[in-house]
Amino acid sequence: MDEKDNGEFIRLDRLLSKAAALSRRDAKRAVSFGRITVDGSIIRSPELKIPSTSTVCFDGKKLIYNENVYLMLNKPAGYVCANDDPKSPNVFELLGDEYKKDELFTIGRLDKNTTGLLIITNNGTAAHFLLSPKRHVKKKYSIKTKFPLTDEDAKAFLEGVDIGEKTLTKTAFLEICEDKFTGYLTITEGKFHQIKRMLDARKNKITALQRVSFGPIFLDGKLALGKYRALTGEEIKALEDTAKI
Ligand code: URA
Repeated sequence: MDEKDNGEFIRLDRLLSKAAALSRRDAKRAVSFGRITVDGSIIRSPELKIPSTSTVCFDGKKLIYNENVYLMLNKPAGYVCANDDPKSPNVFELLGDEYKKDELFTIGRLDKNTTGLLIITNNGTAAHFLLSPKRHVKKKYSIKTKFPLTDEDAKAFLEGVDIGEKTLTKTAFLEICEDKFTGYLTITEGKFHQIKRMLDARKNKITALQRVSFGPIFLDGKLALGKYRALTGEEIKALEDTAKI
C-alpha cells in the first residue's frame, strides 16, 4: 500500500482512535490482534498510512471515519428533521448504527410530509454558513398544486409575495410544467413552511413537495426514499465552496 503522506492518507491507529473511539494503545492492540481489515485484508501495522477512501472494518463492522460527515438522504414523508418530537419518527432513525447521531444535524429542515434531498452533517460551521441568509443558497423544489399554476404566479414570485413576514419573499423562480399542476420553485430563503405559505399567498395549495437540489447538490436519482449515501469528495468541495469556509 502507498505510504505517501498527504491529506488523503491517514495513519491507521489515528483513524481507529477517531472512528472507533479507541485510545491509541487500544487501537494498536486491536490491530496486532488481527481485528482490523483494510479493504478486506488484515493489517497488523498500526502506523501504516492508508488512503482515506479505504474500507476499514473492526471485527467485521465497517467504520465511518470522515472527520466531517456529509450525507445525502432521500427523505420519505412521515419523518421529522428534529429529534425532539417523541410522537414522530425522525430522519436520524434512518441512518445506520455507525453514525453518532447526537453529533449530526440536518442542513435546514423539511416538513414532515416533504420528501427529497436532505443533507445531514456534523460540520456545524458549514451548516451555519449554508443556512445564512447572506449566502442566498438556492433550494429547488418540485411542487404539485391543487389549482393550476399561472404566469401571474411566476411574476408574483419574482417580485416577492406577502407571507406575513416583515418583508416580502425574496425573488423566487417558478417553472410551470405543461399540465400546470406541477412545477419547480427555486427559493433562496428558508422560512418556516415557506413554499406552502407562498402558494397560500397566491390562493393556491401545495399537495406534494419534494426538494430536488440544495446549492450545488442534486438529489441522486438512484437513491430510493429513505436511503442515503455519503457525499462524494467533489460534492463536499462544491458545498464547502458555497459555504465559503
Ligand atoms: N417549504 C415548505 O413549505 N416546506 C418544506 O418542507 C420546505 C420548504
